[in-house]
Formats: sequence, C-alpha cells, structure tokens
Amino acid sequence: MHIDHIGIAVKDLETGIEAYEKLLNGKCYKRETVENQKVETAFFQTGESKVELLGATSPDSVIAKYLEKRGEGMHHVAFEVDDIHAELDRLRDEGFTVLSDEPSCGADNKLVAFIHPKDNCGVLVELCQTIG
Ligand code: CO
Repeated sequence: MHIDHIGIAVKDLETGIEAYEKLLNGKCYKRETVENQKVETAFFQTGESKVELLGATSPDSVIAKYLEKRGEGMHHVAFEVDDIHAELDRLRDEGFTVLSDEPSCGADNKLVAFIHPKDNCGVLVELCQTIG
C-alpha cells in the first residue's frame, strides 16, 4: 500500500489550480469531472504521488457540504491497493466503517471506496485500485 494521492477541497477549482501550479512549479496534468460524486478534480504529479484538487459541481455535492462545514483544506488521503474488494473485506472484518457497499468509479481511472474518518484518527481514507 502506498499513498497514491492527497485530496484537497477547494472553493474554486481555477483558483486552486493556479495556486498549486505555482506551489509545485508544474502544470496540472489532468482535469476530470466525476458525475456520480458531483465533483470536479484536477491532478498534479508530485514524485510517485499526486495531489488531487476537488471542487463541487453542485450544492448537494459532498465537497460543497465539506466546504460549508470546514472550509478549504485536506479532505482525504488515498492509498493504492492491488485488490480493493479483498482489502475492503479485510477492513470490514477489522471493524472499519466502509462508506459504500461497493467501490465506485472515481477520477483518474480508478475504483474507489472511502473509510470513515472516525476509524482513522479523524482522517477520511480512500482506497483506490487502478482499472485495466
Ligand atoms: Co481521491
């Protein structure tokens, strides 16, 4: 398991991209809207890991709710796994709360599922597996 990316919630994706292009001295390499989660994303490569900026595409998006409650900032840490189904079964057995019954299609060509922050010392954890 390695850290695939860190997800950061932003109010405005354009402003976020501008800030992170300066910070990381590199261009955003991919933008993608994930309809089923009502988020728009922008990715930056940082060595072997990535930064994912997340903006809301609708007021009822989880990101819109997060921004309302906590403002901009760190939203989740994503760990890449080889077999997400097996890993979710293992974590359920360990007593972790998985926030969906099945992994769903996320950004960046991945299957994703989230683990409740209460089980991870306050950090929302994403597991992801590259498809294909
Ligand atoms: Co993510």
